[in-house]
Amino acid sequence: MRPDLELMTSTEPDPRIVALLDFIDQHPTRPIDRQSASWVVDQIGLSQGNLVDLTACGQRFMVAVLFESMDNPAGAAELFVLGYRPSLGTPEQLVEAVAWAEAKAARSSARCLEVSIPPVLMPLELVLRAQGYQLMYRLLTMHLGHVAPPNELTVELPGDLGWANLSEDNVRSAHDCYRRAFAGTSGTQVPDLELFRSTILKAEQTPRVLLSGDRVVAFSRVAWHDEQAGRGEIRAVARDPDFDRARLGQAALLEGLRTLEQLGATSACLEVASDNEPAVGLYEKFGFQTQEVAEVFQRTL
Ligand SMILES: CC(C)(COP(=O)(O)OP(=O)(O)OC[C@H]1O[C@@H](n2cnc3c(N)ncnc32)[C@H](O)[C@@H]1OP(=O)(O)O)[C@@H](O)C(=O)NCCC(=O)NCCS
Repeated sequence: MRPDLELMTSTEPDPRIVALLDFIDQHPTRPIDRQSASWVVDQIGLSQGNLVDLTACGQRFMVAVLFESMDNPAGAAELFVLGYRPSLGTPEQLVEAVAWAEAKAARSSARCLEVSIPPVLMPLELVLRAQGYQLMYRLLTMHLGHVAPPNELTVELPGDLGWANLSEDNVRSAHDCYRRAFAGTSGTQVPDLELFRSTILKAEQTPRVLLSGDRVVAFSRVAWHDEQAGRGEIRAVARDPDFDRARLGQAALLEGLRTLEQLGATSACLEVASDNEPAVGLYEKFGFQTQEVAEVFQRTL
């Protein structure tokens, strides 16, 4: 069976998107809020013909999207499985989905394909190993049981730096800061300026940027992960590589936690690559603890 690929033209809420999101909500593989999942399914999956929507006996069992953008050190495209329902479907269907993703990624000049495998996706891990995929790093889901950081972690910022909302005025500089900060980190697909602008300016929780004049030197973005449970998510903290001696990473995380506190969150979670030592060190310093581990496999195309 071929992965079910379809181009969409409508911008109205579409029943198919709703059905896909409901499936992802019920059978999640990774922490993702509905707004982000909606964007990924619509803008990356359906609009770009990059959706994998697998069914067996008329029942959906896997939804994934292929990220072809390769602004990462490995030049990796990523098959991002959003929802998976175990015990339906066959290994052959998974093999075919992976083969489709490889062929599409190869046409986009990616050097390799990455697939992350949380515990629920164990059947896919066996398929990948049989296809010659190798374990590259792990993706950690970390949790913090509160959002008010201890006073001793407060950072005194130099007088010429101040936090502001991300806006049309600073989005270009924010993208530059984000792109340069994330260059060289595993597990991150950095969008180009237009994609960054179109998504980030519409984000439900406006990201915060640390300005030095009109230059963005640090970035902090949060979202609700599960509003009913009071759990917020640190989506991204980053600081300009030129500003590595002012504790701006710590300041960006503090700003994220402050934003979550103002929203009314009582706990926080995030996802980070295990080989991103500065970030893991920063999160551990604040008390974040690893709750789940996904393995990230890669194969050269
Ligand atoms: C992660 C990042 C924000 C850290 O920023 P930073 O300005 O270097 O961090 P700070 O100087 O404020 O350091 C705060 C704490 O982070 C940890 N840390 C920072 N650099 C570290 C390193 N190289 N190794 C281990 N821990 C490190 C330490 O716990 C440090 O506290 P300490 O100095 O008291 O030990 C920065 O490296 C970055 O922008 N990376 C790229 C983007 C990214 O990966 N973001 C996280 C994933 S969303």
